[in-house]
Amino acid sequence: MAVILDGKSLAAAIRNEIREEAACLPRKPGLAAIMVGDDPASRLYVNNKEKDCAACGFYSRRFDLPGSVSEEELLGIIGKLNANAAVDGVLVQLPLPASISERRIVEAIAPEKDVDAFHPLSVGRMVYGKAPVWPCTPSGIAAMLDAYQIPIDGKICVMVGRSDIVGKPMGLLLLRRNGTVIYCHRHTRDLAAMTRQADILIVAAGHPGLITPDMVKTGAAVIDVAMNRDPATGAFTGDVCFDSVKEKASYITPVPGGVGPMTRAMLMRNVLTLAKLHMGLAEPGDIEY
Ligand code: GUN
Repeated sequence: MAVILDGKSLAAAIRNEIREEAACLPRKPGLAAIMVGDDPASRLYVNNKEKDCAACGFYSRRFDLPGSVSEEELLGIIGKLNANAAVDGVLVQLPLPASISERRIVEAIAPEKDVDAFHPLSVGRMVYGKAPVWPCTPSGIAAMLDAYQIPIDGKICVMVGRSDIVGKPMGLLLLRRNGTVIYCHRHTRDLAAMTRQADILIVAAGHPGLITPDMVKTGAAVIDVAMNRDPATGAFTGDVCFDSVKEKASYITPVPGGVGPMTRAMLMRNVLTLAKLHMGLAEPGDIEY
């Protein structure tokens, strides 16, 4: 029976540390979050970001723009936020409507305010191992593994999913921490043969029930990133068959209450890190994951 990785409690403890550290700074760290359109999941995420900023004692600004907003208008807002000294991090909630180029928007965010680490310069820094901040979900997973003293060094790490937000940067982070990384995706021929090798199995596919016990090595750490909403009940489930896989794994994350709260806590930590850089209280190479 696996240890359940309690992301909720760990995230609350991290938020407390962040609030204490922020209170000692000469000014409040600031986050601006932009949401376009009215996707209910995105709205919930942005609402939570505002709440978390308040809980950490941060300054926050929020922009709710209609789905019909033009790329130029959005670029104009980002330009102003880039120039606003009270704002340390600029976040554009993804996905954006199909009429807007996500790449163009992400690349318009000043790299020093790129709190998600989605800008190509941030990605390059991640590849070379000199990134001040990492994307929130991968760094939240690493923080959770560290808190439970689950080693990454030398371990076989299988990443199911290769999204720009989770899978790709997660693999880079694990590689940087000396893991042996296998990426799996929809073209992978025998997924079970790959996942069975994993000491650390991270799943972000968005397919409920994808990972069954026969796909998991005894004693593995299993991290479920997915948040699939059951249309019938409205309940959230992950990609891992939790009840059966927990009997085989050593560690497992619940959904909800595992990765999600850690992602939120890491966003706050990233805002704090960028704020410290902007205030001259840290050097760019100081804070590395
Ligand atoms: N959409 C889903 N996850 C994220 C995230 O971490 N950052 C942003 N900006 N959009 C998202």
